Amino acid sequence: MANYTLHINGESKEVQAQPDTPLLWVLRDNLNLVGTKYGCGIAQCGACTVHIDGEARRACSIPVKTIENQKITTIEGLSKDTSHPLQEAWRKHDVPQCGYCQAGQIMSAAALLKSRPKPTDEDIDTAMNGNLCRCGTYTRIKAAIKTAAKL
Ligand code: FES
Ligand code: FES
Repeated sequence: MANYTLHINGESKEVQAQPDTPLLWVLRDNLNLVGTKYGCGIAQCGACTVHIDGEARRACSIPVKTIENQKITTIEGLSKDTSHPLQEAWRKHDVPQCGYCQAGQIMSAAALLKSRPKPTDEDIDTAMNGNLCRCGTYTRIKAAIKTAAKL
């Protein structure tokens, strides 16, 4: 075990973990930030998407030892009161079905809107390509991203 200081959602958190433990499990098991979900564990589904220094990354595939000096944002830190434009738009379009993939979807969309506040259809398709939804909510996700871009 080793000690790490992680910068998560604007706070410093001390955690003890094996160096190769994926960030996903540190978030969920050490810090009880369970909004970030486990889907595939091999960076293929996007359920575990968080922001590392503002970029959408897969928490299942990032060893905790590599991120001590970076800023991590999880779905819990996207806004204090679920008022982020994407969260508003998600409610407006009633996007989720089972909900399992949705935190990852929103985090990928948030990274997109940060880099491209007015994304084209192609920008959205490219940015969201790696986020899978077994319930097939893709059409509503795209509509919500377009709505959020206008808010
Ligand atoms: S659980 Fe990380 S990409 Fe699927
Ligand atoms: S809403 Fe069920 S997996 Fe996406």
